[in-house]
Amino acid sequence: MATKEKLIEVKHLKQYFNIGRANEVRAVDDITFDIYKGETLGLVGESGCGKSTTGRTIIRLYNATSGEVIYKGKNVHGKKSAKELKHFHQKMQMIFQDPYASLNPRLKVADCIAEGIDIHGLAKNNEERMNRVYELLETVGLSKEHANRYPHEFSGGQRQRIGIARALAVNPDFIIADEPISALDVSIQAQVVNLLKKLQKEHDLTYLFIAHDLSMVKYISDRIGVMYFGKLVELADAEELYANPLHSYTQSLLSAIPLPDPDYERTRVRKTYDPSIHHYEPGEEVKMREVAPHHFVYCSEKEFTQYQQALNK
Ligand SMILES: Nc1ncnc2c1ncn2[C@@H]1O[C@H](COP(=O)(O)OP(=O)(O)OP(=O)(O)O)[C@@H](O)[C@H]1O
Ligand SMILES: [Mg+2]
Repeated sequence: MATKEKLIEVKHLKQYFNIGRANEVRAVDDITFDIYKGETLGLVGESGCGKSTTGRTIIRLYNATSGEVIYKGKNVHGKKSAKELKHFHQKMQMIFQDPYASLNPRLKVADCIAEGIDIHGLAKNNEERMNRVYELLETVGLSKEHANRYPHEFSGGQRQRIGIARALAVNPDFIIADEPISALDVSIQAQVVNLLKKLQKEHDLTYLFIAHDLSMVKYISDRIGVMYFGKLVELADAEELYANPLHSYTQSLLSAIPLPDPDYERTRVRKTYDPSIHHYEPGEEVKMREVAPHHFVYCSEKEFTQYQQALNK
């Protein structure tokens, strides 16, 4: 990580659905974290814990129930002029798990990629537009000849490359990659991760990389946040999180990663998470506390002391 400049600050963000109704869902429930310029922040947790909602709320696909998202010092939520909103929508892009669902099947690849260029008026004429498309195709490891084909003519990995080109087309500086490799074959996953890493360097990009489990995020993330039921429960540098997972839920996620060595794999013990181990007294303050430098855990004062002792052993 080159600098420690904050690109995004998420403060006490809440996203509740069906508020006040019997089926109210607290998809994101008071989470606070920063994303530094140029880094990749991994966000992991089981299905339904609120990862996608966090991403979508950050870029304001949803209006937050409460809390703030600050992008380069400016609040993304709250009253915004059409021009400001357009600027946010240009600078913050998303890549999805299923690129097929996000690419219009009736549009040629060139038009899928150029959609943002058109919306934001980034090309003076058709020649400039097409040159930009060709350049983007090459940037993501495809070629000029692919421009006139349709999304269904491509493999999953190639489609993800098209999705990446489409996001890159508008010169974003922040990209939310929502499980971009989960649907791909393992051999293709590494290629897409490597492409994202390369692009990050070349285009000075900042990523929020969402994943289900902790196996692949390790290779791309500088820091990792772990979510459980709408809460961020642990946040640390990637290496630190793997070396010293403190929250029991993080430990269970780590124990779920299969080991490459079959001998060790046979001895792997899966740990299941039991939320009832945290019994907080009414009035007890439970929040993210910095247990070691840059290592935060959602805990009470008492747990904080226990975690510190565990680290110092
Ligand atoms: N638009 C919506 N309206 C109502 N509830 C929603 C909406 N979007 C998400 N939810 C609910 O919010 C919770 C969090 O969903 P979210 O999609 O953010 O989880 P996720 O961590 O991305 O899961 P997955 O790993 O399956 O993608 C879930 O209970 C989900 O059913
Ligand atoms: Mg999701």
